[in-house]
Amino acid sequence: MKTAIVYHSYHHGNTKKLVDAIVAAHNDIAVFEATTCRPDDLSSYDLIGLASGIYYFSFHPSILNIAAALPLRQRVFLLSTYGGNKLGMNYARKLEAVLSSRQAEIIGQFGCLGFNTYGFFKLFGGTAKGHPNDDDLRHAIAFYESLLNA
Ligand SMILES: Cc1cc2nc3c(=O)[nH]c(=O)nc-3n(C[C@H](O)[C@H](O)[C@H](O)COP(=O)(O)O)c2cc1C
Repeated sequence: MKTAIVYHSYHHGNTKKLVDAIVAAHNDIAVFEATTCRPDDLSSYDLIGLASGIYYFSFHPSILNIAAALPLRQRVFLLSTYGGNKLGMNYARKLEAVLSSRQAEIIGQFGCLGFNTYGFFKLFGGTAKGHPNDDDLRHAIAFYESLLNA
């Protein structure tokens, strides 16, 4: 199976840590940064991971743009990091809507905390300090492997 992961990770590189851990364990995965990735780059993969931090309750706009240009009926999985308690919110809601318009199949989603110093959180040393930690990275790898075995 050919897998590619497209990511955007501008705040502290938290989401990139998840991507790097998965790719270190599975070095056949192709990796693209979302703002420089072209739709053609993704035309030949069986499975595409879409990965970003959560910014203003959503995946990054560059990931939404990539999703909107995916081949129809693409199999995808989602990776994210976020700064705090989600309080029941579905941060993937917008992305799921875009993917649904491409008839994509979301085969799994993984998210974990990521160090956050946005806005006034900076004044208190930030939230989710130390995340993603080694456990988070192990869980991310296990998540990816569960997709391969499904
Ligand atoms: C502009 C901005 C907006 C954010 N909005 C949210 C949010 O709505 N919910 C949340 O849990 N975290 C939010 N965060 C925290 C990030 O999701 C978190 O730090 C994430 O790990 C950043 O990923 P990155 O380092 O890969 O960019 C926000 C951070 C920034 C910089």
